[in-house]
Amino acid sequence: MSDTAGLHQQFRNKQFRSDKVTLFTESVIRDMTRQAMMHGAVNLAQGFPDFPAPAEIKRAAQDAIAADVNQYAITWGAKSLRQAIARQMEQWQGVVVNPETQVTVCCGSTEAMIATLLAICNAGDEVVIFEPYYENYGPDSILSGAKPRFVKLHPPPAGDGDWTFDEQQLRGVFQKDTKAIIVNTPNNPTGKVFTRAELELIRDLCVEFNVVAITDEIYEHILYDGTKHVSLARLEGMAERTVTINGMSKTYSVTGWRVGWAVAPPSITDAIRKVHDFLTVGAPAPLQEAGAAALSLPASYYQSLADGYGARRDGSSRD
Ligand SMILES: Cc1ncc(COP(=O)(O)O)c(C=O)c1O
Repeated sequence: MSDTAGLHQQFRNKQFRSDKVTLFTESVIRDMTRQAMMHGAVNLAQGFPDFPAPAEIKRAAQDAIAADVNQYAITWGAKSLRQAIARQMEQWQGVVVNPETQVTVCCGSTEAMIATLLAICNAGDEVVIFEPYYENYGPDSILSGAKPRFVKLHPPPAGDGDWTFDEQQLRGVFQKDTKAIIVNTPNNPTGKVFTRAELELIRDLCVEFNVVAITDEIYEHILYDGTKHVSLARLEGMAERTVTINGMSKTYSVTGWRVGWAVAPPSITDAIRKVHDFLTVGAPAPLQEAGAAALSLPASYYQSLADGYGARRDGSSRD
């Protein structure tokens, strides 16, 4: 064998894929979007608004670019957006947040979730996840070195009522290595909106086992049938042990802008900011300015967003 052939052989023999990546597949829902585009199918797999974003926020993005907001924003987020996020959390959920020490703006809530897990998990830690679940949580946990532990959400009997979980089963997965629980409410894919009583039960377990809650609240404003969204961070004893993740994608119908955030106590924020800095440096600067404008839209905007989705669900709108 010539030297070149030997080198080729060595290259082929070496395993260039990490063990971690063998533990999960590519995203199924994002593959479905590609398939749907190719075949002209209706895409129910990925939360993918097929209608325009609000004109005001598109204009704010254009204005920011024209005003040359085109360089790196502060790594953990433009001040205007962090202030708007803090204002909104207080207004909607009564959670008081310091925008200087508790908010990290990321490239979508996707980055906020993995940056959080990388910031808090060590190898051997466990992360509790309700299943079925938004598929990122599994790979995110694995990439952060943690082991996902699943708890079943049970479908409503005879299709009526809400999805539920078994209290004893949930208690059973909490143990000494549990570092975090991920709570996605309103939930993808079930649509379940966790009740205050369910969140209180989760709170009690987090306190008893000294666990951090990471909530994904990206669908906070898309609610049906009079349901109300409650942030876990607003429950007594949870502000100091909750990372609240949210973003612009679904609320403002701008999934391609990639602006999301994590709100957490200062010490956890400090860790998230470090990870975020080395993952992506920062989210798109002009779109963060547009984010500040978006988060200043009146309450009627959120009502009409939910009403629009409700009408489409019920078939009373053909849009
Ligand atoms: C539950 C949930 N969280 C997060 C995301 C991704 O959000 P982002 O676009 O902010 O990264 C999605 C997208 O479908 C989702 O369904």
